[in-house]
Amino acid sequence: MSTTDTTKGESKETTSGKELVSIFVMGKKYEVPKNLTIMKSMEYAGYKYIRGCGCRGGICGACGTVYRKPGDYHIYVGLACQTVVEDGMYLTQLPFFPANRAAYSLEAIGSEPEEVYKKYPELFRCVACNACSKVCPMDISVMDYIAAIKQGDFEKATELSFDCIQCGLCTVRCMGEMSQYHIAQMVRRITGSKITPQASHLKAMVDKIKTGKYTKAIKDLKGMNEDQLRKVYQQREMEPTEAPDDWKPADVTYL
Ligand code: SF4
Ligand code: SF4
Ligand code: FES
Repeated sequence: MSTTDTTKGESKETTSGKELVSIFVMGKKYEVPKNLTIMKSMEYAGYKYIRGCGCRGGICGACGTVYRKPGDYHIYVGLACQTVVEDGMYLTQLPFFPANRAAYSLEAIGSEPEEVYKKYPELFRCVACNACSKVCPMDISVMDYIAAIKQGDFEKATELSFDCIQCGLCTVRCMGEMSQYHIAQMVRRITGSKITPQASHLKAMVDKIKTGKYTKAIKDLKGMNEDQLRKVYQQREMEPTEAPDDWKPADVTYL
């Protein structure tokens, strides 16, 4: 790779015509094509992601990143697979953030708010600074779901936190030093299993699975190689686009 100009603020481009920006990864300077995400720019610079990378689509929450921009005192956080590099950025990755996660058995606990308060007493250290909501890449009102949990309104907290991708960035910023996303996850589990009315058709299907009706079919699928799996997939009977409500496949063995 060669560049025509490396002066900050002026345009730089490779012999292939790509515009470049300068980034600093752990203090070392690299020139990378403009418009790359942080994740791709670090890979372009030669780094290989072993941890801290998953879906590359902003959904798995694995790629929390910390960066600064030149002449700006802010420490920014974001998802490396979604944030586009800017000239002069100082980058690093958060391969893991050591957030507190309580151990509990969902079967052994009730649905009372105290179950969560016992496991996460730090919940009441919230000072309502709203720093968590400001950094959330999913635009979740983190402070509001924490407030709903404190008020014992688990259904509201579940709704507010439903899009959480467990990236942990809110925790990085929390003045109360709590792991909001683990607390919300416990609340969603309690809501889903003990508060929301059970869907009768789902229960019927789970009961059927427990009888062992599908065990052999799953074992057979697991034993297939890729070609066999592809053939089974391509030969499956598909529901027509405009099927009537009472449509059933010709083979009803697994219904
Ligand atoms: S609530 Fe926290 S863990 Fe969940 S997506 Fe937002 S910042 Fe990430
Ligand atoms: S960052 Fe922590 S202390 Fe601040 S509002 Fe969010 S949960 Fe509360
Ligand atoms: S790699 Fe999954 S959110 Fe970035």
